[in-house]
Amino acid sequence: MSAKSHPEIKVGILGATGTVGQRFIQLLASHPYFKIHALGASSRSASQQYSKVTRWKLSTPIPDFVQKMVVQDCRPDAEGFAECGVVFSGLDADVAGDIEEAFRSANLIVYSNAKSYRRDPLCPLIVPLVNPSHLSIIPRQRSALSLSKGYIVTNANCSTTGLVVPLAALEKAFGPLETVMVTTLQAISGAGYPGVSSLDILDNVVPHIGGEEEKIEWETNKILGGLRSDNKEFDLHATDSVKPINVSATCTRVPVIDGHTGVVSVKFSCNPPPSIEAIDKAFREFTCEAQELGVPSAPAQAIVVHDAPDRPQPRLDRDLHNGACVSVGRIRDCPVFDVKFVCLIDNVRLGAATSSIMNAEIAVEKGYIA
Ligand SMILES: NC(=O)c1ccc[n+]([C@@H]2O[C@H](COP(=O)([O-])OP(=O)(O)OC[C@H]3O[C@@H](n4cnc5c(N)ncnc54)[C@H](OP(=O)(O)O)[C@@H]3O)[C@@H](O)[C@H]2O)c1
Repeated sequence: MSAKSHPEIKVGILGATGTVGQRFIQLLASHPYFKIHALGASSRSASQQYSKVTRWKLSTPIPDFVQKMVVQDCRPDAEGFAECGVVFSGLDADVAGDIEEAFRSANLIVYSNAKSYRRDPLCPLIVPLVNPSHLSIIPRQRSALSLSKGYIVTNANCSTTGLVVPLAALEKAFGPLETVMVTTLQAISGAGYPGVSSLDILDNVVPHIGGEEEKIEWETNKILGGLRSDNKEFDLHATDSVKPINVSATCTRVPVIDGHTGVVSVKFSCNPPPSIEAIDKAFREFTCEAQELGVPSAPAQAIVVHDAPDRPQPRLDRDLHNGACVSVGRIRDCPVFDVKFVCLIDNVRLGAATSSIMNAEIAVEKGYIA
């Protein structure tokens, strides 16, 4: 069956009133087979109409049919969730762990943006343009927890996602990487709503985002690593022949609304390293399984390479391919490592909601969502 002819699948959204939740609603409102069926948020919003309790921040209006939907408590027995084939979570990290576990225990399928289960050895951490093969641990997760249907799949930290797509292209073309250094310039929307105070961020750069650097440094290796052949655990990129990548990250918050930029230097394991021309070609020619499967949210181009010396820029490039690709530019020799470049991701689309949706679309194709 082609991706376009799937029967309708009802979906729920946890954290539906938040920054990521609003993107879920915008993207899912016109989805070919996922149909918004239940919305959940905190007790502050529950039992009220969505349009009355949400500070909607997107430039498109709240879809008509969503405006009057009643927000539910984030409990699996709240109205509507039991019928959902997938529950997408844009929950605040402080509460996501317990709530998502309650949904999984109720035999529901959860695709999460929160950090809570990214390091769990039974939960795949999936960037849909990079490692959807890790979905194959789902049967093991279900059997370990004695669940016939429920499981949790996570997607990565938004800056990690913007970094690992170009890194995956380099590994695919040239083999393992040895060292990666990245400095991020992260948008305000990455902190959710209301996020960073305007007095802190206007006319300023804040050189610290709590926990972010550790996420990039750790998650990169789980995503680019593999599953052992028995599908029982992740090898965190360390096999007999391949060592984990040394990753060093510095994260800053800048006065940009949407779009995280990464300034990256890479050292390859191969010696001599590939030429800049070969690296440029590897980025341009990178294709991935999501595209081969033809899932609805897959971008026509996973990586857009910019030739202009002053690109990518958040304001000009974050909307490319509906925010589902990574932009790369300024590919040049690095006098310390081998190559340096700049990457850009829409942190709320491919960095969050689009990744969850694309992961679920791939899972539909692979039979993990009926
Ligand atoms: N923003 C990004 O770029 C981004 C990117 C990748 C991942 N993430 C992750 O995605 C998640 C959501 O981030 P966000 O930026 O969308 O945050 P946000 O704007 O602060 O939204 C948080 C959502 O969680 C709900 N919530 C808060 N406390 C709750 C509780 N006790 N019970 C049930 N629901 C509760 C809120 O509902 P109320 O409106 O009712 O309070 C709201 O819907 C976080 O885990 C974040 O780390 C965010």
